[in-house]
Amino acid sequence: MSEVKTVAVIGGGTMGNGIVHVFAMNGFDVKLVETKQEFVDRAMNTIDKNLSRMVSKEKISEKDRSEAIDRIQPHLNIPGAVMEADLIIEAVPENFELKKSIFEEVDKHAPDQAILASNTSSISITKLAAVTGRPSRFIGMHFFNPVPVMKLVEVINGLDTDEEVTKSIMSISEKLGKVPVPANDFPGFVSNRVLMPMINEAIFCVHEGVAEPEHVDQVMKLGMAHPMGPLRLADFIGLDVCLDILNVLYDGFKDPKYRACPLLVKMVDAGKLGDKTGEGFFTY
Ligand code: 3HC
Repeated sequence: MSEVKTVAVIGGGTMGNGIVHVFAMNGFDVKLVETKQEFVDRAMNTIDKNLSRMVSKEKISEKDRSEAIDRIQPHLNIPGAVMEADLIIEAVPENFELKKSIFEEVDKHAPDQAILASNTSSISITKLAAVTGRPSRFIGMHFFNPVPVMKLVEVINGLDTDEEVTKSIMSISEKLGKVPVPANDFPGFVSNRVLMPMINEAIFCVHEGVAEPEHVDQVMKLGMAHPMGPLRLADFIGLDVCLDILNVLYDGFKDPKYRACPLLVKMVDAGKLGDKTGEGFFTY
């Protein structure tokens, strides 16, 4: 298998800019694809701010920061960004039709030997792979927010993913200083199949009047040593994203244990989505 040197990341939002950050910091050439110049600027500013914070904490040098920034090449269209890439990682919102149209375009323009990966948190890797002509070179590479800090990469094998591709992605994840953990393609994989029912149950505790949000979170932080309580974490992830993932679990398994709490549905309907809207279970 040829070595991966150039990586294209499609999407510069929270996850995308974090993924670009870690690849650039670890010596890869990175092509960042966004749809508008203002989104490119926003992603680059965030990456620069996060790298500068690492410089001020003396975790990296100023030279490391500027070299990482220089390795990032922004693009406003997919063909130019992927035509020389060895690995293409999609990190756009959790919408199957959007991801499908992106992968169809990527598949047309990426070199035959390139690996295609999705950072999806719950959409089937097998189903995404099937929209391309290379399902054996398609894989899930699931990062966690904040990407520069969280150690895990959940590596998800689709039905047809080639073993060599899995090995290559595991080894690239290690080069990023991450710990890759393999999983097979089932709704929510491991991470969200375990995390989302916990978050949902915490919301049911509030819904049924068991405890106030801050008390639910205190129990899990102080009693279970979680760095964030489940409701703070739900706000951080985005309540809309939590609801989408629960719906994927519910639809995928047809099991009522994944039924989203009506309070979560109501909060999403009200536009209270957590950190990104300034209000969720807590205010920001
Ligand atoms: N980039 C770079 N560094 C960052 C950062 C970022 N975006 N955000 C935080 N950091 C660094 C800080 O600089 C700090 O560094 P230091 O240890 O050198 O001082 C360190 O991370 C800790 O940050 P803070 O001191 O600001 O705050 P906390 O100690 O409260 O930690 C946290 C913040 C790391 C977010 C911690 O609360 C945490 O681990 N929370 C849980 C996060 C989690 O569970 N994420 C997974 C979400 S699920 C997901 O992403 C999957 C999806 O499919 C839903």
